[in-house]
Amino acid sequence: MKKIFTLLAIAMLALPTMAWADEGMWIPMLLGRNEAAMKKAGMHISAKDIYDVNNACLKDAVMLFGSGCTGEFVSPEGLVLTNHHCGYSFIVRNSTVEHDYLTNGFWAKTREEEIPCPGLTVTRLVRMEDVTSQVMQGVTDEMSEADRTKVIDKNIEKITAKAVKGTHYKAVVKPFYYGNQYFMYVNEIFTDVRMVGAPPSSIGKFGGDTDNWMWPRHTGDFSMFRVYAGKNNKPADFSEENVPYVPLKHLEISLKGVNEGDFTFVFGYPGTTHRYATHDYVDMVANTENPVRIDLRQIRLDRYNAAMAKSPAQRLKYASRVASIANGWKKWQGENLGIERLRVVRLKDDQENKFKEWAKDKPQYKEVLYQLEDNYAKLREIEMDRVVYSEAIMASDFMNRVRQLARIADLSDKEAAVAVGRFLADSREYFEDFDAHSDVDQPIFVETAAYAWQHGYMPYMNTIAQTETELALHLISVYKNSVLNNQNKLEELLSQPIAKVKESIVAINDPAIELYNKAYRFALGEKKRADYNEISANIQSLMRVYVKGLMEMYPDSNFFPDANLTLRVTYGHVKGFKPKDGVYYTPYTTLDGVIEKANPAIYDYNVDRTLRRLCHTKDYGPYANAKGELPVAFIATNHTTGGNSGSPVLNADGQLVGINFDRCWEGTMSDLYYDPTFCRNISLDIRYCLFIIDKYAGAHNLIAEMTVKQ
Ligand code: ARG
Ligand code: GLU
Repeated sequence: MKKIFTLLAIAMLALPTMAWADEGMWIPMLLGRNEAAMKKAGMHISAKDIYDVNNACLKDAVMLFGSGCTGEFVSPEGLVLTNHHCGYSFIVRNSTVEHDYLTNGFWAKTREEEIPCPGLTVTRLVRMEDVTSQVMQGVTDEMSEADRTKVIDKNIEKITAKAVKGTHYKAVVKPFYYGNQYFMYVNEIFTDVRMVGAPPSSIGKFGGDTDNWMWPRHTGDFSMFRVYAGKNNKPADFSEENVPYVPLKHLEISLKGVNEGDFTFVFGYPGTTHRYATHDYVDMVANTENPVRIDLRQIRLDRYNAAMAKSPAQRLKYASRVASIANGWKKWQGENLGIERLRVVRLKDDQENKFKEWAKDKPQYKEVLYQLEDNYAKLREIEMDRVVYSEAIMASDFMNRVRQLARIADLSDKEAAVAVGRFLADSREYFEDFDAHSDVDQPIFVETAAYAWQHGYMPYMNTIAQTETELALHLISVYKNSVLNNQNKLEELLSQPIAKVKESIVAINDPAIELYNKAYRFALGEKKRADYNEISANIQSLMRVYVKGLMEMYPDSNFFPDANLTLRVTYGHVKGFKPKDGVYYTPYTTLDGVIEKANPAIYDYNVDRTLRRLCHTKDYGPYANAKGELPVAFIATNHTTGGNSGSPVLNADGQLVGINFDRCWEGTMSDLYYDPTFCRNISLDIRYCLFIIDKYAGAHNLIAEMTVKQ
């Protein structure tokens, strides 16, 4: 037995590759390199059908939705599908207690009913280009990191300016493999985007934060928007005159669905991964940062959740922020479990030891991992100050307002005047339900700071108080006595001539401003910031060397670049998995599961009468599967991350079969370490989406403009 294990271990060591099956987020322009593997995996279309600079292709139907999600065109009239949680803040913003689209859903039956969403943009990739050699012009090995950055930034400025000259396009250049390669993205950005449809929360956020990041899942996580353009089909700011944008390509929808083993690919904008990070980084994140972040967010969530249970107005008020706070809070817990279970820190360390062995006679590589270790040791000493500053000190609205006010003193008179105007307007809103808000915000302010103090962070607090009670009393008095919580005094302060306002902010001796200044100086003061920037820059440049070395060490591996919010393709298969001994997860869920979970006593598990009736009468129309069930969601081995939300999930023929919206709990560590046994992306089955639009909402107008294939 022992011998077999040893043999196996040796065989694994000898594997000439670094990647797991299905791992990877690939660059569309270079997809030719993956084409053979994708075809072998079951794909029928070609790499050129997905990305082609010269012809309309699937790429033209995919967009960056807002600044951190993906969306796709599903009609020739600019109709967009994305997740409910991607449209969430706009659904909330357009809702009032009287017209509560968040709770009741929204369906525009005519174009006139579509609601403008100022601030929402849609970015379409026009083309991309490898610009490494132009970016590197004038860069030498001997250069200091700072000089190198200067040259590169200059080059990038030139390249992008040239690329968009005489057009309405915007260009960005992004580093890949920590700056071993550079790509330019030429984009078209649309600013008139309107809300078209959203299911009620009881469907679009069914299961809420309890089910978030979990399988089995029954969330109808989609919403719909429409992109408008000027008469020439080019981006234009909102105007009544604008017309629906005609995309170069919109996706065809397949009702055939997917079965276990089927090929799928996801096309979208993954945000950030750390695939090549060393064991020190993983250790720091999992064992130092995540636990503190989780605790601190728990404090906030308890307070907000209690407030939201009190009234529909409170629910609307905090819904967006709770969704985002809870999302990280829960993900980090799953991530930590996965890192521990798979012993990722040790695995990474083993991998690094192999590299050290390989590199020991290679002067350009032999020191790099030791140097990274030194830098991480330094980073560890200051990293938590930033984490605690943002997750504790700045956790309350109160402290955020303090910061805003304090900063006005540093602005030019002109900027300050604008900032004061905005601050006053926000303040009036803040004071509108001051008492109710204080019931939530003051405890958050006190409790998060107390946590920091208890755990030895923010040592300047020791000069404020010796005991926790003393600290709490002090903080409460700061909250009560600050000018920021006194509307009359604040208005008085801000109605002076602008130069005087700036002077007063510095001179008033407000206890809250003082506290803020102490925290800021401690966590982000000049010296700390300089140290932090230097260490980060060192790590970046060392990682550039390390990753280059890895590529030489494993010449037969196709290395994928970490996610950086650029368009990528990831592919895999629909597949169940075994999360733990004795449990097997099937690859799809159905409407019956929604009814199983239904519980009228819990807001997140409420199922309304219409949906119950449709389920009871099995009125599924063309959206049922071969067994007569209505599929809701499915899982697959596609390697995705935050930003992939709303991404189209396509079948072997490039037809839309799902909308990506999450990952499974057991695999949330995939940003650091992908494991094919546990990592699954979760997609909404497009048939459930169409069923809700068609049968539940009766928005036949929307179905009619889509291209739906049997
Ligand atoms: N976990 C998904 C993502 O990372 C969905 C988040 C929104 N849903 C929620 N219950 N907060 O974005
Ligand atoms: N829900 C995530 C998002 O907003 C996608 C899930 C993930 O992180 O994989 O992008």
